[in-house]
Amino acid sequence: MFLVKRPALLLCLFLLSGGLSTASANPPGHALATAHPAATEAGLEILNAGGNAFDAAIAVSAVLGIVEPYSSGIGGGGFFLLHDSAQNHTTMLDARERAPLAAHRDLYLDADGNVDRDRALNGPLAAGIPGIAAAWGHLAEHYAQLPLARSLKSAIHHARDGVPLNPKLQRAMAARAETFLRYPGSSVFVLDSPNPPPDTRVIQDGLASTMALLAEKGAQAFYRGPLAETLVAEVRDAGGIWSLEDLEQYRVVEREPITIHWRDAEIVTAALPSATGVILAQVFNMLGEDWLDENRGDVRIHRLIEALRRAYLERAEHLGDPDHVDVPVEQLISADYARELMADFDPERATSSQNLYTAEPEAGNTTHFSILDRDGNWVSATLSINGLFGSGFIAPGTGILLNNEMDDFSAKPGSPNLYGLVGSEANAIAPGKRMLSSMAPTAVHRANTLALLGTPGGSRITTMVMQGILQFLQGADAKSLVSSPRLHHQALPDKVFIEPDTVVDQERLEAKGHVFEVAEPWGNMQVVVWDTHEARLDAASDPRGLGSAKIEMLNIND
Ligand code: GLY
Repeated sequence: MFLVKRPALLLCLFLLSGGLSTASANPPGHALATAHPAATEAGLEILNAGGNAFDAAIAVSAVLGIVEPYSSGIGGGGFFLLHDSAQNHTTMLDARERAPLAAHRDLYLDADGNVDRDRALNGPLAAGIPGIAAAWGHLAEHYAQLPLARSLKSAIHHARDGVPLNPKLQRAMAARAETFLRYPGSSVFVLDSPNPPPDTRVIQDGLASTMALLAEKGAQAFYRGPLAETLVAEVRDAGGIWSLEDLEQYRVVEREPITIHWRDAEIVTAALPSATGVILAQVFNMLGEDWLDENRGDVRIHRLIEALRRAYLERAEHLGDPDHVDVPVEQLISADYARELMADFDPERATSSQNLYTAEPEAGNTTHFSILDRDGNWVSATLSINGLFGSGFIAPGTGILLNNEMDDFSAKPGSPNLYGLVGSEANAIAPGKRMLSSMAPTAVHRANTLALLGTPGGSRITTMVMQGILQFLQGADAKSLVSSPRLHHQALPDKVFIEPDTVVDQERLEAKGHVFEVAEPWGNMQVVVWDTHEARLDAASDPRGLGSAKIEMLNIND
């Protein structure tokens, strides 16, 4: 791969050696990778108890919401890419948040017409209507084998028992302390001292009770009844605009994923309201199928950056919730359209994105997990509450920390959000509309091998998934996919961001006009790979994060 500096990453790291040499219909075991060992253990426990990948997805997402409360949770949303092996059916479960019905286009504009960033990011006004509980209900009803209560058991235990304070959690709590102090319900994340004792645990009793209620009554208890009434009352009391109707109306949607054919690969990834599938399809078209055959790294990178630039500008102009705006997806991802986009491509010069602002993209707080079960069912899911600890607002009496996903809308044309992304009318705020996302749970099929991958990272999710796919297509194993150094360009700001270890021919690319900035490492990719021909499993968790990957081989007689 063009970016690899660490020779060790090229080693073959399949965790099972000497696999079968015949094709197998089912995996030889199950495999999963998540952003936290407690979530990986919970998923494995469910798989070993007879649950399938969908039961495990409920358990993993519920535990992640407790042990990584800064990244995702029941107060947020996400996308679950699902494959039901028995039906040979792949679908994207859209559990993205929706704007409240009282929301309007200028919700976050102050008297001068500028975006009030505090209101867009902090407190209940920043929160969309959450989708995670509805996703659990849908998975439990249509795909899973175990009762919802069984799959939520580990998460309830972790919430009651407390999460051991680790440096990442402590830093995140400190970073959001000012917002937590505004809201009494958020005191669970306020530390008594800047130097807490080493055995400190973060206990989330309120959330444990809420999850126990869902376990007993079903996920719909989130959207109607006493819990919904408390949520709405507390949101409104603290300046939010939710109504009971918002919660009652919320539904997850099954959508057809975006499928891209490139060289000998089939890439299945997120559809709108995630922008990433459309961007990836455009970028692969703009690269052309011979891109990998080019020997000179700087020539490849120049074309890649120019393709990304054009696709991110397209994102800003055209993409939004397909249930609210007419997005001509087929046209946008066609080969003809890619040719038009690249008509002004100059192999010697960088195009200008007409840099209008200097906002630096943030890495984002989101989480991803990949799960494959012994029957060949799989889940690749990316879930979020948007910024670090979302809105910072816990609705008193519920333990539920709300997202600040409303900032993923374009609050004002040309005004950058948390990720430095701009947008237009297509992603303007409207009642009941889903905000555009970058989350991209992905599956890649190539030569009898399946890779499940995804990562958090805000606007950088798209480029990380792109690089992960390209590396997989060049034969990289799971460990290389999660650990290789990264590069990012999103048109605006007009800069190429690289990690400290990323190797590119900077001199040649700068001579063409590209501007580089070395940034702190980003991303937290979780990968599972299944070689169906060799009956081998591989899995890895990004070394930048705290996560873990597990493979459990099954006895042939099981
Ligand atoms: N909130 C980050 C995203 O959905 O892209």
